[in-house]
Amino acid sequence: MIYLDNAATSFPKPEAVYVAMDRFARHSLANPGRSGHKMALESEHALSDARHRLNRFFNGRNPDRWAFTLNCTDALNMAFKGVLNDGDHVITTDLEHNSVSRPLVALAEAKRITLTRVPSDAGGTIDPDAIRAAITPKTRLVAMTHASNVLGTVQPIADVGRIARERDLLFLVDAAQTAGVLPIDVQTACIDLLAFPGHKSLLGPTGTGALYVGSRVTLRPWREGGTGGDSLTPTQPTDFPHYLEGGTPNVLGVAGLVAGLDFVEERGVEAIRKHEVELCDRVRHALAEMPGFEVFGHAASSYRVGALSFRCEMLAAPELAGLLDEKFDIAVRPGLHCAPYIHKALDTVPDGLVRVSPGPFNTEADMDHLIDALKQIIGM
Ligand code: ALA
Repeated sequence: MIYLDNAATSFPKPEAVYVAMDRFARHSLANPGRSGHKMALESEHALSDARHRLNRFFNGRNPDRWAFTLNCTDALNMAFKGVLNDGDHVITTDLEHNSVSRPLVALAEAKRITLTRVPSDAGGTIDPDAIRAAITPKTRLVAMTHASNVLGTVQPIADVGRIARERDLLFLVDAAQTAGVLPIDVQTACIDLLAFPGHKSLLGPTGTGALYVGSRVTLRPWREGGTGGDSLTPTQPTDFPHYLEGGTPNVLGVAGLVAGLDFVEERGVEAIRKHEVELCDRVRHALAEMPGFEVFGHAASSYRVGALSFRCEMLAAPELAGLLDEKFDIAVRPGLHCAPYIHKALDTVPDGLVRVSPGPFNTEADMDHLIDALKQIIGM
């Protein structure tokens, strides 16, 4: 089987991730921060170590400001529902995944906030000046993706972050497609809130993610409950990260996430991205020679991470992906990719596109199998 759906979740994980999780589950899986016995302390130490690792990897200011979440959607909801107040204006973009756009649209429909959606250009990139032009006296937050999950196009977050900081706005970045393949420095890019999954390019298991909450942000806890300490306090203790982490955390998943991060740091984010983009370009160039295929997104590889979307005039995306799976054992993601606004802008609704997203373990031979399969399908 050839797995080319790493933008949805990475597979396989590095061997060290499986080993770390197996070892942790057998020897250390107590409830972190509860009970005080040796194994509980070991489990708590694993969480704390992971926060330090994330803080260093993304250049945060304080390890305690990294709250573990179930996934990127969970982190984004924690941010939006914790930060936004009635009457706020929010600026977002047409590249967003539903994990950003649905919570914001729901708040707008409830008349709690107002929302401006800035369109991307023909290549799938947001112009920072368009964000600047959308700012009103009521604007409180700019929320945008770091890279489109459909087109793979990388967004100028440092420029947008600077604009947001100059105007004293909060800046949230959805790093679902970039954490682990692009360097992210939350201080240099003026990021106040960084949401990301652990199970994509950081190569950890599903059920992991985190939200970074910078020092300029005050927020309400989205999830309240036991934190292991302060049991007499009737409401959520206000110390970070416990303020945001009611309930038993997924410490087993975090053990896997740290092993994934080890792999990423050892190989290097730039090397991983280069590998994945080159594999995409191999397919991009082949499709350019094949009749009836249309490829979307910026032509220059320096503007992309490893996701490539295309359509075929002979077969709708779901049928084409179905044939790749059934007949050739190649896994890709067809359809609208939970990103309806960019598909509407591209005029690719309702069938959407076929998205190919290689990972660090894919090879040129995998891409050649895909190209060959596509040739056979259009020849059928
Ligand atoms: N957000 C994931 C994707 O783009 C699931 O496929």
